[in-house]
Amino acid sequence: MTNIGQGDVATGCNAFDVSRIREQFPILAQRVRGKPLVYLDNAATTQKPQVVLDRLSRYYSAENANIHRGVYALSQDATEAYEGARRKVAAFLNAAEPAEIIFTRNATEGINLIAQTFGRSTVAAGDEVVISAMEHHSNIVPWQLLCEEKGARLRVVPINDAGELMLDELEKLLGPRTKLVSIVHMSNSLGTINPVRQVVELAHGLDIPVLIDGSQAAYHMSVDVRALDCDFYVVTGHKLYGPTGIGALYGRRHLLDAMPPYQGGGDMIKSVTFERTTYNELPHKFEAGTPHIAGAIGLGAAVGFLNDVGFDGISLYERQLLDYATEALSKVQGLCFIGTACDKASILSFVLEGVHPHDIGTVVDAEGVAIRTGHHCTQPVMDRFGVPATARASLAMYNTTDDIDHLVAALSKVREVFS
Ligand SMILES: Cc1ncc(COP(=O)(O)O)c(C=O)c1O
Repeated sequence: MTNIGQGDVATGCNAFDVSRIREQFPILAQRVRGKPLVYLDNAATTQKPQVVLDRLSRYYSAENANIHRGVYALSQDATEAYEGARRKVAAFLNAAEPAEIIFTRNATEGINLIAQTFGRSTVAAGDEVVISAMEHHSNIVPWQLLCEEKGARLRVVPINDAGELMLDELEKLLGPRTKLVSIVHMSNSLGTINPVRQVVELAHGLDIPVLIDGSQAAYHMSVDVRALDCDFYVVTGHKLYGPTGIGALYGRRHLLDAMPPYQGGGDMIKSVTFERTTYNELPHKFEAGTPHIAGAIGLGAAVGFLNDVGFDGISLYERQLLDYATEALSKVQGLCFIGTACDKASILSFVLEGVHPHDIGTVVDAEGVAIRTGHHCTQPVMDRFGVPATARASLAMYNTTDDIDHLVAALSKVREVFS
């Protein structure tokens, strides 16, 4: 096998040099349990490049002030940095305007925001919300809560044995009672990339809006919300090489304008009297209280970093790494992949015959290899495949073939221990 981790991947534009990428992530130089850290839990959260760490430190050491209401220079600078970050995220997702980007705590809050505003104002008894069988709990539970409150019905599009969405079944589920389709772009437990453009086309054919959960997709591939033609798209900062506690929701202006506010408080109002309150313009209508200013600015730095590296290089490199890893892991005795979609990215979920996934995680951890084991917040996926849990290695741009080789060696230790 070619060792793609050691050299450049010619991308057609910039060469992707993984060793130069790794130098930008100080945490990767660490030793864990006396071994070099092999971090393969990127689907849970990614590590942070120096440029993001520096931006957070600069904000708190030189720019910290509350935003939007201060007339003094520091507050105006902080406001400009915060709104600048919104412009960067808008450009990153190709939103039509920055006002279509609402900062949230994470993807979970973005989905809950839609359920509590758009959902509560449009879904009535007997209506339906359509999701898929591969959703993260974040894209299941908010809809269950809504459906319970309204007497509506949650419909679930099944997946096939490879972990692919069954589009023909989706088509059958859509109808006059469907008020929203909410679907994951890329599955965190299977790696499947869904044909979201086709989903949007099918739904829009019946005037049904579509929310896409881009938590996993947005750090592996370029996302263009206008090309996808979706109505809402959520991302979460900590998977985008940015800080925790910050995420973003994209929504079409006319939908956001028509939606009631999410939470009440400072900044989301135009005027308040005891008799009547009027609400602020977009995007502030949905950002009550002091936001995570540093987080948004850090997220702005993270998307700047992603742009600088470039998705052409990232996607191609990660594709080659996934191929390498798939081939290497498939040689491990007794290993069975869960999630073998034709179109997938950067996730290797697997079970090992006779070994509980938690035991796999513990033994490989002793070798310095960090993978995740469990249901990955997708219990219905585990039920679908008849397993209690899987072991999951998930890749990011800084992983190398060496990392994969370490994982394979650690899995041999698992075999030794449990044979
Ligand atoms: C597909 C998917 N959706 C939603 C989420 C929730 O992200 P967060 O916890 O940052 O809100 C995750 C996190 O793992 C995810 O992978």
